[in-house]
Amino acid sequence: MDNAITVSLISPNVVRTHVGRERRSSFAVVKEGESGGEGPIVAVAENTVSARFSDTEERVSYEASGERIVIRGELGPFDKVYGLGEKALPLNRKRHRVIMWNTDAYGYATGTDPLYVSIPFFIVLRNGRAVGHFVDSPAYMSIDLGQTDFGEFTVVVDDESVDHYIIYGPSIKDVLRSYFELTGRPFLPPKWALGNQQSRYSYYPETNLLAIVDRYRRDGLPLSAVYLDIHYMDGYKIFTWDRKRFPDPKSLIDKLHEAGIRVVTIIDPGVKTSPTYPVFRSGIDGNYFCLRRNGDLFTSRVWPGLCAFPDFARDDVRNWWSSLVADFVKDGIDGVWLDMNEPAGFDYKDHTVSDDDLMHVVDGRQVPHARIHNAYALLEAEATYEGMLKARPGKRPFILSRAGYAGIHRYAAIWTGDNTSSWEHLRLQIPILLGLSLSGVPFVGADVGGFAKNTKQGRFYLDPELLIRWYEVAIFTPLLRNHTSIDSPDQEPWAWGSAYEGIIRGLLKLREELMPYIYSLAWGSHELGEPIIRPLVYEFQDDDNVHEIDDEFMLGPYVLLTPALERGSTVRRAYLPKCKWLDVRMGSEVEGGAVTTIDVPLGNPPVLVREGGVVPMMRESLIALIYPGNGEFTIYEDDGESMGEPSKLTIRQELKGSVSRIEVGKRGPDSFNTWVTLSIYTKNKPKRFLIDGSPAQYSARGSFIEATVKPGSAVELELGD
Ligand code: GLC
Repeated sequence: MDNAITVSLISPNVVRTHVGRERRSSFAVVKEGESGGEGPIVAVAENTVSARFSDTEERVSYEASGERIVIRGELGPFDKVYGLGEKALPLNRKRHRVIMWNTDAYGYATGTDPLYVSIPFFIVLRNGRAVGHFVDSPAYMSIDLGQTDFGEFTVVVDDESVDHYIIYGPSIKDVLRSYFELTGRPFLPPKWALGNQQSRYSYYPETNLLAIVDRYRRDGLPLSAVYLDIHYMDGYKIFTWDRKRFPDPKSLIDKLHEAGIRVVTIIDPGVKTSPTYPVFRSGIDGNYFCLRRNGDLFTSRVWPGLCAFPDFARDDVRNWWSSLVADFVKDGIDGVWLDMNEPAGFDYKDHTVSDDDLMHVVDGRQVPHARIHNAYALLEAEATYEGMLKARPGKRPFILSRAGYAGIHRYAAIWTGDNTSSWEHLRLQIPILLGLSLSGVPFVGADVGGFAKNTKQGRFYLDPELLIRWYEVAIFTPLLRNHTSIDSPDQEPWAWGSAYEGIIRGLLKLREELMPYIYSLAWGSHELGEPIIRPLVYEFQDDDNVHEIDDEFMLGPYVLLTPALERGSTVRRAYLPKCKWLDVRMGSEVEGGAVTTIDVPLGNPPVLVREGGVVPMMRESLIALIYPGNGEFTIYEDDGESMGEPSKLTIRQELKGSVSRIEVGKRGPDSFNTWVTLSIYTKNKPKRFLIDGSPAQYSARGSFIEATVKPGSAVELELGD
């Protein structure tokens, strides 16, 4: 019985093996659909399953022994392994052994494992073909990727049953798409959540917060949202306000809204065990908290002192929580920041709750915490999302979560927790964010400037060079938020005077210019399941040279970033994938397929656009930067916060010989009517320039020519020699 293996064909590319005791409901998988029909040829022999897809075969063996399940698969000498969520490791996880156990990893360093988020989903790239493995259990798990045995991966799950999905590509893109079919689509963020955001532990009283906002405005720095960290609460009691520091939250929020600024408040899961505190009392009355095995209330110390923990695994508890959230945000709070949700508990090793005595109730049955630890934050995020929807029907919720499990992308963005102000971390954040992106979490970011003390030096270390370099990376990542610890020196953009502030202003303005591109990518992640930032291997899987690159990244399909990551650098070396690239700063072309030296002057980061690229931007009006070649991009437009359908405009280009044809969408019920200025790179004056078949005017700007056209137009040009 314990060893039972049940194999099901989920779709032509997805095979599921259930191992161990009877199946439980999954927190991650939302759609299963057993398709039967066409698919791989699956053979089961004793405890081994082999699935033969069109051009590759996966053989996996299983062992189940009551409390533990072991899954083994092959790993070839040249295989690469990606994914596994938030890991402070190189992009290629091969030869590492990682742990799935959400942990409060304050001040982590390169190699620290585990961190806050656990996603037991990895992609093996072998001979150009990608195959995903998703081991759906929120229990403690170790995954050895050829560290102990070079030719094998071994997954050990401390659980009595597990579903293992084999997801055939052959491209990484295909694997991710199938993974999203199982686990649901990424949430659609409101547009403001892609703007520049400012945070600190903590801005209070409200006059200090308003002074920050005022300074942003006076200094002409773009700002979309501010965050309130734990000091806005009364004694850190969640769903309360400290009325001395914030006497009238509603009118404060109204004032900020009038200035176009959104407000995000932190909410931790722990509820202070105070008999006079209504949230605690209602939790006790409803029996909503986790209990010990003997029926006593489970408690641990967190910021407010001794806390009880909602049992988010239960539907009634999630309903209760979502009502609390709905009631709290109804005065205008725009987003909820979920912290300490591993869950953290100060009475435990690594400040992370881990207790054999702590119980949850899942599907009416008592389950020890260790079995569902990694899903705690996911379930909390789900309830929070529902709460925001309840309070603001039809409006997109925004949630930023520290911990998570597979499926967290349906509800929340992830930031990489308490990183440090150090060059090491600037470098490290890129593989962490790319790893999350390849694990199905598209909306990610890191605290700009770093949060905690530099662990090596034991003190805060940030200077203007590091902060600017940090912005040079972060303006191209989905979440752009400056945040720092309680005892650190200030690190707002103006902290080092006006010259440096001016540089940061330029970078924040560049981010604003790119908003149509970034916002469309966020829509694309929601609709099509594509990451927003991507490692090079996602876009250039056939180019072996890029498989391990994690100090460069792509923003969407067309923009390549090769940031400066070392102190004092003026140039850096970067491999450019095999195609032509347009260095937008220089207005010149670079041939890819080789390592190139790139200038990295402070404040003017290299931006390379791929051949065939279409990159919409907002200057005085909508512009599409076009680098002739073959490609297309869909621009999404809407009010930025409702759930309705967007209007779209697809710009498609084709290059045949020296003739480039650009089609600017079609008029239709869901397409928009904004005119677009095409800004087309042409080394020399074009020999011919036609709009809808007739010779037309254009203006020249450096190595670009520009013409403004209405949707539905077609432009044809013959490039000069
Ligand atoms: C945790 C969070 C950090 C926050 C602090 C206080 O350390 O990771 O972002 O500022 O708690 O709430």
